[in-house]
Amino acid sequence: MDNFRFYVPTDIRFGKNRLSDELADVLNVYGKTVLLAYGGGSIKKNGLYDQLLQLLAANGNKVVELSGIEPNPRTETVDRGVALCREHQVDVILAVGGGSTIDCAKVVAAGFYFEKSAWDLVLARRTFNGPALPLVTILTLAATGSEMNSGAVISNLTTNQKLGVGAPSMMPKVSFLDPQNTYTVPPYQTAAGSADILSHLFENYFKATEGTDVQDGVSEGLMKTVTKNCPIALETPEDYDARANLMWASSLALNGLTGNGKSGAWSCHPMEHELSAFYDITHGVGLAILTPRWMNYILSDKTVGKFQQFAQNVWGITEEDPFTAAKMGIQATYDFFKSCGIPMTLPEVGIDEEKLTVMAEQAVTHSTIETAAYVPLTAEDVTAIYKDCLTESSYI
Ligand code: NZQ
Ligand code: ZN
Repeated sequence: MDNFRFYVPTDIRFGKNRLSDELADVLNVYGKTVLLAYGGGSIKKNGLYDQLLQLLAANGNKVVELSGIEPNPRTETVDRGVALCREHQVDVILAVGGGSTIDCAKVVAAGFYFEKSAWDLVLARRTFNGPALPLVTILTLAATGSEMNSGAVISNLTTNQKLGVGAPSMMPKVSFLDPQNTYTVPPYQTAAGSADILSHLFENYFKATEGTDVQDGVSEGLMKTVTKNCPIALETPEDYDARANLMWASSLALNGLTGNGKSGAWSCHPMEHELSAFYDITHGVGLAILTPRWMNYILSDKTVGKFQQFAQNVWGITEEDPFTAAKMGIQATYDFFKSCGIPMTLPEVGIDEEKLTVMAEQAVTHSTIETAAYVPLTAEDVTAIYKDCLTESSYI
């Protein structure tokens, strides 16, 4: 296991109906002028918006709204948010939504102090280390883990780039996780969010660092949590415990718990970010399509042991031949995504062969997948994986 620092100062307020008693005190620590950031309107439909406006009015807050944050949030929307914060001298940002809203709010928070445009800030990537306005979040979709980490992913559709940026200052101060706020998440987004949680776990699980029983055991437990509870949430959207388990798994899958102490770059995320950058598809769906193909592509004498462990501990596969067991685990992963209603080929989400090579080259340019991934992948490898996603697959 590698050396690491684990410091995740986000104050998590998990559970039912905490906002009315706690939100005002949380915000008052930072000031009275609040930027209320949200997406395309789901919080207006489910009543959360009205509840928040009442609570904020009762607390004497001045509320400035940044609405219409897109899935795959755009750099122009971040610029709009920064301008609002400067014009109204905002004290604290309250982001209410999924990963897109929270990510946009994080970069608005840092952009407030940044002299250049939001896109210049994003281009600084992990070298950015400036200050940010305080951020409080109310999570409404279990998926990205953005509620408990310092990263944000912003899209520039003009240049077909979707890039991550992050700094300690962008970590949410407080995140309210009420599983009831995810009851209205539609089946497609519930499945996509679950695929995203699983992918965060896979990206950290399949790494070369030895001796990481804690991280791998926690990951396997969280993977089983997601594969158990996603179907329940799809069948019964208001099953509190299913939604609660997905929500907490979302946060724990990407807050450093399973990734710290292991080195190496991720694989499916850089490949997926290009699909979103060029075709604006749902992040979790792109990951679900790529994952089994990537697993199968990197299966070798060197990796088969880890895939057999995965098949056994996550899917309960007792087959003794390592390669057969590994293939069965990959098939189980594919079948799981399909059973959740996720389209499992690129053409089904509107992607054909045309830009596969360009996207593969960009994936390699924008990440260290070629040098530091579990199995390093060249642009040719990435193109082959994309091509494999054009048709249905079978592994056993
Ligand atoms: O915009 P609204 O109207 O709120 O609707 C959203 C949106 O259409 C809807 N939704 C959210 N909560 C809902 C709801 N609908 C009904 N009821 C609710 N309670 O769901 C749709 C998708 O929302 P979005 O925020 O885009 O989804 P998600 O949380 O999956 O976020 C995806 C973004 O996060 C990035 C992705 O790349 C993508 O841009 N990621 C961020 C990461 C991070 N910060 O750590 C890591 C991830 O790997 C990921 O890259
Ligand atoms: Zn993700």
